[in-house]
Amino acid sequence: MGFLNDPCLRRANLIFLYCCVLSSFIQSAVGVKSRHFKWDVEYMHWSPDGVEHIVMGINGQFPGPTIRARAGDTIHVELTNKLHTEGVVIHWHGIRQFGTPWADGTASISQCAINPGETFVSRFKVDKAGTYFYHGHYGMQRSAGLYGSLIVEVAEGEKEPFQYDGEFNLLLSDWWHKSAHEQEVDLSSQPIRWVGEPQTLLINGRGQYNCSLAARFSNSSVSLCKLRGNEQFAPQILHVHPNKTYRLRIASSTSLASLNLAIGNHKMVVVEADGNYVQPLTVDNLDIYSGESYSVLFTTDQEPSKNYWISVSVRGREPRTPQGLTILNYYPTTVSRLPPSPPPVAPRWDDYHYSRAFSNKILALEGSPKPPAKHDRRIILLNTQNLIDGYTKWAINNISLVLPSTPYLGSIRYNISKAFDRNIPPDHFGHDYDIMNPAPNNNSMYGSGVYMLNFNTTVDVILQNANMLKPNNSDIHPWHLHGHDFWVLGHGEGKFTEKDEEKFNLKNPPLRNTAVVFPYGWTALRFVADNPGAWAFHCHIEPHLHMGMGVVFAEGVEQVKKIPNQALACGLTKKMFMMKDEHN
Ligand code: C2O
Ligand code: CU
Repeated sequence: MGFLNDPCLRRANLIFLYCCVLSSFIQSAVGVKSRHFKWDVEYMHWSPDGVEHIVMGINGQFPGPTIRARAGDTIHVELTNKLHTEGVVIHWHGIRQFGTPWADGTASISQCAINPGETFVSRFKVDKAGTYFYHGHYGMQRSAGLYGSLIVEVAEGEKEPFQYDGEFNLLLSDWWHKSAHEQEVDLSSQPIRWVGEPQTLLINGRGQYNCSLAARFSNSSVSLCKLRGNEQFAPQILHVHPNKTYRLRIASSTSLASLNLAIGNHKMVVVEADGNYVQPLTVDNLDIYSGESYSVLFTTDQEPSKNYWISVSVRGREPRTPQGLTILNYYPTTVSRLPPSPPPVAPRWDDYHYSRAFSNKILALEGSPKPPAKHDRRIILLNTQNLIDGYTKWAINNISLVLPSTPYLGSIRYNISKAFDRNIPPDHFGHDYDIMNPAPNNNSMYGSGVYMLNFNTTVDVILQNANMLKPNNSDIHPWHLHGHDFWVLGHGEGKFTEKDEEKFNLKNPPLRNTAVVFPYGWTALRFVADNPGAWAFHCHIEPHLHMGMGVVFAEGVEQVKKIPNQALACGLTKKMFMMKDEHN
């Protein structure tokens, strides 16, 4: 498709041919490419776990097609919304969008949702190698199945700081038999109807409901799962050869579940987290929260006459969802031969000690960028669950985020004062707030204010967890920042105090785009506000975000140029930009 639009090929006279040859020569000289994709987003019948439902697919596929590119490439995705009755937007999770804040793909923040029947082109550069993914960022479209992988390899001629013989990609997600629309209404009801635990864990969009790959190890009456065949739900098997090293890319696009992944009998060496290299860390299994990605290396040094389980289990919530499973198949063993022992058992779901220890062991690879030694501003964000007029919401420093109809990027850039709440959200919460045992709190309200950050300053964010509405309960929240990577300076238990600063890791903190805050704990992050735009910072649990668990940061927006008109053709910017289109 792409080359038909290439002006060089359309006019094949000598001069243009010359320019064509020249430009492709320049392109290949630096190895940088433009990669074009044409996508239709639509609902379709699909059977992710053996039970047919509708999912949001792309070009007839679920999960959506995998994008593969090299660092420095430009991606063009021409996305047509074929949903008929709802808008859509796709976010490129982990891509910082330097210079293209309007391509971040967040409804109400970076752009207007794409209307049914309309097409929007996202054009952006993937500047850094790593394991990423993309997903819907409007309503709860991620829960509806709108996601896929985005893999960026190192630029041509560059090398990774590790070697491997082959590679696999696992995109993890969770799946409900209740539609995302119904979930949305349930969550917004009074009293709330919580979405509950997922029915199935999916690996590359495949899982099996009400059957068990492990049935033969238990006395349960559930039927044995299907291993082969071309069912949409048959697991994707990882075929390996003995005595090789493989790279496994893992990303979690779950709506709710925190996961733990293990490969039976095999150690894994973690080498990448969220698109940044980390100090090699050898583990038996790994925790992965929604919004995170990892690369691990494993060596096929086990008995080649067997197959081995790869298991994905729920952590951090009392599991009511069976493990997600697939098989590591050693050549020449037949695929249908089940592993001789049961699938790996994950650490106890509530062993937070284990989880914290794992998070603390993820450290930057030597030579990685170091954080500035000091911060210019520190924002402490208290995470609470509250009742607002009887509705259950999440609030940050007592403000539950409600997104405006005009995207922030446009309303800040063009100074449209009524587009959102001009009250500046607070940098702190009350000193006397008891995070373990809070007094009833009726101070929360809805808000759409923005944290305006001074351009190029260093910002610390301390995420402070607390008790939920239910006594003796505190949830895990994986927080994800758009437009930046941050350094994770530390995690701690209880209430953060200025003294905790002494324990910050300024030597080799990992750079990431997602970091978890553990129950009753705090997490300290540092980043430089060096990317002009308006950026979401939110809990990556889809129902939590829907219930208001997020904030918006903005910096240097006055420097943003040429926002595509179509990105702003809604809300209060609509008139301005529809008019312009007519004159064009
Ligand atoms: Cu992957 Cu705003 O999220
Ligand atoms: Cu959350």
